Amino acid sequence: MIIAIDGPAASGKGTLARRLARHFGLPHLDTGLLYRATARALIEADLPCGDVKAAVAAARSLALMDFDEQVLRGREMGEAASVVAAIPDVRATLIEAQRAFARRPEGAVLDGRDIGTVICPDATAKIFVTASPRVRAQRRALELAGRGEPVDFDGILADILRRDQRDSSRDVAPLRAAADAVTLDTSALDVEAAFRAALAIVERR
Ligand code: CDP
Repeated sequence: MIIAIDGPAASGKGTLARRLARHFGLPHLDTGLLYRATARALIEADLPCGDVKAAVAAARSLALMDFDEQVLRGREMGEAASVVAAIPDVRATLIEAQRAFARRPEGAVLDGRDIGTVICPDATAKIFVTASPRVRAQRRALELAGRGEPVDFDGILADILRRDQRDSSRDVAPLRAAADAVTLDTSALDVEAAFRAALAIVERR
């Protein structure tokens, strides 16, 4: 069974994907971390995130990188990730590793932007998770505060809107729901209620 979870920034995809993976005993891949780690390599080398050659080289050597989630989940990395994620050759470099993860015999849960459309078009269940921009900004603010990062609500909301716009308008694998995905709006749902709703969607499949 492959469960594909996609959605815009801070929609709660990761939390949902982790819960579903735990529930079904499946491995989980947060594909955003691949783009975040690629972006981090460029930032640390003082290179612009639009440097195609360096970004592809970084994406190729992901296996050698330090996946320190504390650093990768920072606000700056999300923004930089969305710039490298718009480079077609970077996406092409990362496709096979994601598909290989999904091909495990027991199945897998993957979350990102293009899992249902590009990485696993034949996934058993596809959920497109959304929430209003303000709710998503509140969730991201809480998450950043929990990690000791400064919280500037308007700045976070602006980041989210800019990133959604970039992710939705890029030429390759833009953020969008697959035709056969079920959309789950979590604006009025807490973590538990969102999990129950997602579980019902998967079980129906
Ligand atoms: O946690 P959040 O939703 O804010 O971000 P993320 O899922 O870690 O993704 C960071 C960025 O990576 C996104 O804004 C996308 O530009 C990019 N990404 C992508 O293009 N395709 C994916 N499958 C996952 C992430």
